[in-house]
Amino acid sequence: MSAKVVSGKELANKIREELKDKVSQFIEEKNIVPHLVVVLVGDDPASQSYVKGKQKGCEQTNMKSTLIKLPVETKEEELIELVEKLNHDETVHGILVQLPLPKHIDESKIINTISVEKDVDGFSPINVGKMVLKEDCFLPCTPAGIIKLIKETNIDITGKHAVILGRSNIVGKPVLHLLLRENATVTICHSRTKDLKEFTKDADILIAAIGKAKFVTADMIKPGAVVIDVGVNRVDNKLCGDVDYENALEVASYITPVPGGVGPMTITMLLENTFEACKRITK
Ligand code: GUN
Repeated sequence: MSAKVVSGKELANKIREELKDKVSQFIEEKNIVPHLVVVLVGDDPASQSYVKGKQKGCEQTNMKSTLIKLPVETKEEELIELVEKLNHDETVHGILVQLPLPKHIDESKIINTISVEKDVDGFSPINVGKMVLKEDCFLPCTPAGIIKLIKETNIDITGKHAVILGRSNIVGKPVLHLLLRENATVTICHSRTKDLKEFTKDADILIAAIGKAKFVTADMIKPGAVVIDVGVNRVDNKLCGDVDYENALEVASYITPVPGGVGPMTITMLLENTFEACKRITK
């Protein structure tokens, strides 16, 4: 078998084209430009690259983005003060504080400070709670992008066994809830899971979000499975996912590449959330 490659890049471009038209029409009618502010603390190279992608996405869809770069030694109180200022700034519709933050800053305190209406990451406890309860909210970007990619394969998710590797707040836990909504039977595996292969071999949908290069080998995959690779690892200065892609291609029915899979979809969901935040705030 040779798996079909599900291109996040192509799907993201299609959605961005449509979004650009909607944004342009909104600007024409309302004379308001949706505005995302991204806050980056420190100079982590991976974070810098992610933030660049988010700014480029705004440009592509006719939205405004502002990058606020702060030094690594920024104090927690200073960051809280900045977020509060952005909360009250009527020209700002979306606020994103790039994670991870330096160790001396309490991430949950910062996330809790972002106004729920501008939390386009969908990370605040209120948005997370609403997501779990299936209430109207901003869905977290990577999990929402993953669901769109799975739907792109046209498989029926209902009743499928989805196995998630990784239990992070950003990916694993929210993906669990979004897959439940789609009527999948969901298992989360993590670093303490025993007999991991027993679970992965049973997965109709396998989502790898552990951050270990090529961790998922072909022998761990059920023939015909849909494999979604969320990993972004740098090996010999080249990006690779959590899945041993070349060999997995021979076993899976659908697979997402790295780069060009989940990453572009994450940014695209952020752009959609930013436009939605702007529409709601300015209504
Ligand atoms: N760091 C890695 N992924 C993300 C994300 O989706 N949002 C934020 N704010 N930080 C991240």
